[in-house]
Amino acid sequence: MQSTGGAAPAIIRRSDYRAPDWLVPDLALDFDLDAAHTRVHATLSVARNGAHGRPLRLDGDGLVPLLVRVDGQELTPEGWSMEGGALIIPLTGDAHSVETLVDIAPASNSKLMGLYASGGLLCTQCEAEGFRRITFFPDRPDVLSRYHVRMTADKALYPVLLSNGDPVGQGEGADGRHWAEWRDPFPKPCYLFALVAGDLACNADSFVTMSGREVRLGIWVCEADLPRTAHAMKALKDSMAWDERVYGREYDLDVFNIVAVADFNFGAMENKGLNIFNSRYILADPETATDMDYDGVEGVVAHEYFHNWSGNRVTCRDWFQLSLKEGFTVFRDQNFSADMGSHAVKRIEDVRILRAAQFQEDAGPLAHPIRPESYMEISNFYTSTVYNKGAEIIRMMALMLGPERFRAGADLYFDRHDGQAATCEDFVRAMEEGGAIDLTQFRRWYEQAGTPRVAARLAHDPVTGAATLTLAQAVPPTPGQPDKQPMVIPLRTALFDPATGSHSGEQLLMLTQAEQSFTFEGFAQSPLLSINRGFSSPVIIESERSQADLAFLSAHDDDPFARYEAMQQLMVNVLVGTVAGQPVDESTVIAAIRQTATNPALDPAFIAEAIRLPAEAYLGDQMAMVDPDAIHAARDALQQRIGVELEPLWRDIHARTQANGFALSPAAKGARALRNVALTYLVASGAEDGPAIAFTQFDRADNMTERQSALATLASGRSNEREAALDIFYHRYSDDPLVLDKWFQTQALAFHPDTVDLVEELGRHKAFTLSNPNRVRALYGAFAANQWAFHHASGKGYRLVADCIMALDRLNPQTAARLAPPLGRWKRFDASRAAMMRAELERILAQPGLSKDVTEQASKSLE
Ligand code: ARG
Ligand code: ZN
Repeated sequence: MQSTGGAAPAIIRRSDYRAPDWLVPDLALDFDLDAAHTRVHATLSVARNGAHGRPLRLDGDGLVPLLVRVDGQELTPEGWSMEGGALIIPLTGDAHSVETLVDIAPASNSKLMGLYASGGLLCTQCEAEGFRRITFFPDRPDVLSRYHVRMTADKALYPVLLSNGDPVGQGEGADGRHWAEWRDPFPKPCYLFALVAGDLACNADSFVTMSGREVRLGIWVCEADLPRTAHAMKALKDSMAWDERVYGREYDLDVFNIVAVADFNFGAMENKGLNIFNSRYILADPETATDMDYDGVEGVVAHEYFHNWSGNRVTCRDWFQLSLKEGFTVFRDQNFSADMGSHAVKRIEDVRILRAAQFQEDAGPLAHPIRPESYMEISNFYTSTVYNKGAEIIRMMALMLGPERFRAGADLYFDRHDGQAATCEDFVRAMEEGGAIDLTQFRRWYEQAGTPRVAARLAHDPVTGAATLTLAQAVPPTPGQPDKQPMVIPLRTALFDPATGSHSGEQLLMLTQAEQSFTFEGFAQSPLLSINRGFSSPVIIESERSQADLAFLSAHDDDPFARYEAMQQLMVNVLVGTVAGQPVDESTVIAAIRQTATNPALDPAFIAEAIRLPAEAYLGDQMAMVDPDAIHAARDALQQRIGVELEPLWRDIHARTQANGFALSPAAKGARALRNVALTYLVASGAEDGPAIAFTQFDRADNMTERQSALATLASGRSNEREAALDIFYHRYSDDPLVLDKWFQTQALAFHPDTVDLVEELGRHKAFTLSNPNRVRALYGAFAANQWAFHHASGKGYRLVADCIMALDRLNPQTAARLAPPLGRWKRFDASRAAMMRAELERILAQPGLSKDVTEQASKSLE
């Protein structure tokens, strides 16, 4: 371990789990709210859990006890002690009432964990361990309590006072203050506690549940943002209906509130009955939100709502079980979004995200199983592995079981564990029993990290007509796991007969051994392999399929994902070949793009996905060593070639998809997506009027999807229109933080030789601030994802990101730590870049007072 100026942070291990010594069946919290000084008076009913003599230990982070009482009696300073922030109280009986009083300062809470100020609001974020910054408490998810919350605050500054559960009283106090009381009848862990105080307006609606109960719904935002909440409200009601229809799960309180806040460390939080959201996942209107933003709102509203069952009614025993609620809930929100829109396009998007984020994580120094074995800082484990790979693991179970048996397993899980803090093992066992399946070997997906590679070889015997598919799997070594056991890999597979151009039925092949063969009869000619259809398993398939075979599948495969995949693989082969200096044939790719783009039977949204070139980072992942400059050059050249060769097609699509008025229908969204791809190719062609066409789209658009994508196209070029558009955009939206984020992000993502210098300048722009996580992610998060720019040979990109991490760590370690992983990918780059990346990690680690969060990420990244 590198020096961190202090002791190395302790490592918490899954195997060390022990049941809590004390339970807290009831908790009363009394908040005297004020931005500078908030007093928190807590009354805990505590009960000894089992026969032991250990004292009560209440976690605390930065808290000083101003008062400690047991059964109404104030303790002398000898009656309690402090241990690493925690309050230790020896108790004689088996049940007591324990009171504490603390004073906290929301306005100076820059970590955005615990109680903090955002704009004029006071709000909370407790998951994972923020509650200990509010009051002394056993801050672990297996201690469940009934909450009774009282808040008192200045009525003019904080006219609205919200907490979990149902409102049970309110009234006026002295000196312009008022109070409100809330009671949550469902016992919950403290990470689900929330309160909000502020001057908020409400989009109020209602929902009648399947058993006929009326639930009052409220989405709370500042008055000016009310018109932007309609999409979120629709998403909420659709989610409530969907969970009833698909899982038989009904909402359980009389009130469901959502609050949007501007400063938030991640997407949103599922606090019981009071979800708190990053405003970017609530606010949407055509002028300011892209179609992707609309989909983000729908997906995150659903995700947090679905947590009411998968997370709140059944919660996690300890944080190693995080994927129990997150993987399952992501799976649920993905299926909801697919049902609301296009299954094919949603699956393609989800796989693209998985490959971009999770496959990279699984291949690097921070790789971990979906159920990790150890951590220093749990905030670092809210990862795409726990979330997105976790969802894929549930998806495989659902596939193997089929819808009825999967539902039976889910029913058993919810019924058996309602009100409990459960484990991943509990979930798997419910699936085994409810679904009647043996998941013994399948459990390895919870234990082994790394993306399995499956080599597929197809042999054909023209005499017997038999085709033999040989599959060999290998799971690469990952930190702490040098040797791996074979996984259970369900592969939806079809063999296309070239004689008929079709297949005679898809099969689910279960690959469970290191190597296995499957034989298929009746092929006069060698068939074409369509494998891992629908991306049935989160693996990398290695198969040697010719460009001609891929072109055939890209035109004829009846599984939309496999069709998309064939198209992408065609492009990858050409681009990887170019980078390797091999002769390549671009004409097959261009013909396939033409074929797909002009096929009237295809959904335009699907076409847009299929004909887009793979991202530079994805191309890098296909190579042993990433050459960012060569990848950029190859992709740029192919894009130009496609632009030139098919120029009339791009002009035609661009003209034909021009809408007459904005609509949010799937057809209108698909048309916009295709229009934007056409614009990219048209401008890439170098046609003289390209930038002017882009500028006109930018200028005339009646929606952000078309405006931002035209801006992005211009930002990646060198036209005069580039500066004009950026300037107009900035001035038009300078008082809308969410849109201003797009201005930063678009420039940070631009394919422009000067991006690295531009990002340095933008870091000093007056609208840039480290105190808003969205702004930081828009600039530095986006930049670090821009492979060509971030890996600039000068090493300047690395320095910019490291500087940001070091500055941000003093304010907000959690968000700082999220910027570290890109620096940890040094093994994949040449010696010069690798040395510079390592040097930045070392420089970060040498910063005195570095947080546990960044220490963990940076030190693991050097190994
Ligand atoms: N449970 C929240 C969600 O996925 C996210 C909480 C993230 N917490 C954290 N420490 N990163 O909906
Ligand atoms: Zn979640």
